Amino acid sequence: MKTSLIILAAGKGTRMNSDLPKVLHPIAGEPMLIHAMESGRVLEPEHTVIVAGHCADQVRAATLAHDPEAIVVDQQEQLGTAHAVAQARPALAGFDGMAVVLYGDTPFIQPETLERMQAAQAQHDVVVLGFQAADPARYGRLVMQGDRLERIVEFKDATEAERAITLCNSGVVAARAELLFDLIDAVGNDNAAGEYYLTDIVGLARARGFSATAVTCDEAETLGVNSRADLALADAAFQTRARAALLEDGVTLMAPETVYLARDTIIGRDTLIEPNVVFGPGVTVESGATIRAFSHLEGCHVSRGGIVGPYARLRPGAELAEDVRIGNFVEIKNAQVAEGAKINHLSYVGDAFVGAGANLGAGTITCNYDGVMKHHTHIGARAFIGSNTMLVAPVNIGDGAMTGSGSVITSDVEPDALALARAPQVEKPGMARKLFEMLKAKKARMQRGS
Ligand code: UD1
Ligand code: MG
Repeated sequence: MKTSLIILAAGKGTRMNSDLPKVLHPIAGEPMLIHAMESGRVLEPEHTVIVAGHCADQVRAATLAHDPEAIVVDQQEQLGTAHAVAQARPALAGFDGMAVVLYGDTPFIQPETLERMQAAQAQHDVVVLGFQAADPARYGRLVMQGDRLERIVEFKDATEAERAITLCNSGVVAARAELLFDLIDAVGNDNAAGEYYLTDIVGLARARGFSATAVTCDEAETLGVNSRADLALADAAFQTRARAALLEDGVTLMAPETVYLARDTIIGRDTLIEPNVVFGPGVTVESGATIRAFSHLEGCHVSRGGIVGPYARLRPGAELAEDVRIGNFVEIKNAQVAEGAKINHLSYVGDAFVGAGANLGAGTITCNYDGVMKHHTHIGARAFIGSNTMLVAPVNIGDGAMTGSGSVITSDVEPDALALARAPQVEKPGMARKLFEMLKAKKARMQRGS
């Protein structure tokens, strides 16, 4: 059966104490809402509908930036989870598959859990994801009769006996879309919170002769984020899992607890990651590379055999071919560095192409920005750029060319040519000694106060 996702993301998240809507706070470099969307991807959703409310424009922009085909609907007033799901109805008009409801602030539901719910949906009309809560606190309780789910009762409305139940509602629900919306139509708000509870659909389904069941998962998956402390815990939990997965995949992390990973970090087998490395979104490191200590990488690609750092920064668009070396205090942005090229010390290379086997001396800078526009620098294969060369873009250095140290290169250099663009050296014999004597005499006069 085809599937569509409905992700609830209208809540304000008051306890975050933030101008940013809660679901856009990042975990592992990406908004928690994106994590929820990505875990739902395993179901190959036909439609993904995000129900936004607070700061809907910001939520819409972030959602569409990640998935231009997602549909964002508005829930003007937050009248409860059933009311929120009802807002997705027009967007899913004519869709006759299964709808799965997720929460935008519950980022860690595992793909495998959603697959188990999908499987259970073949046998039951309504499937709810539950978990055994260590501290059931204010969660909704699942009232079971064998493997049949009878109803869900919210904490506020529960009797003492019901509050003793430890099987709790995660909030994730799966049902045929048509049935889901029909049941929601019948949900009222006559309860302790005065809200339209999505959880009421279970009792309503059972009363109409439909079947319902619960699939369970580990409590860690249902971890919801309500505060900055929760956010930090969620990020830590993500990091622990992601590091363990890399170790399992044959990546060496010298000090795993000091490596910060993004949701989508890809690292190949037999790569070595030294301590204190930060991965932002969009990084791929191929097999057999080394990322040395204190490097920061985002939106970049390091090929096999590359050595990066220590203290290197790879920014979006940094494309390193095989066996490239990027050393300490080097920043690369939007630049292709071809096979075997070396940029080992104190450089900025942005909006550039660096040819195979080229060597950029210490302090080489591509002056890519004129204050208004960005310009490109091309450095040919096997070129040798002398230390402290300023390459004022747009500029083209031919294959096998050289620049003298300290040159400010403003026009193109022919292949195999040597370009020198610095003042010629002048030498004045004995002048240093005379200067020293003059300065020392001046200092002595000043100390005498004359
Ligand atoms: C809900 C469940 C409860 C479950 C718990 C799990 C109901 C009635 N209760 O309770 O059984 O144990 O989640 O965390 O469903 N939202 C909207 N629009 C609204 C209301 C909520 O988009 O009008 C969103 C919120 O932003 C949040 C999610 O839905 O992401 C859940 O809402 P929340 O108010 O946190 O529900 P709980 O009271 O925690
Ligand atoms: Mg909640």
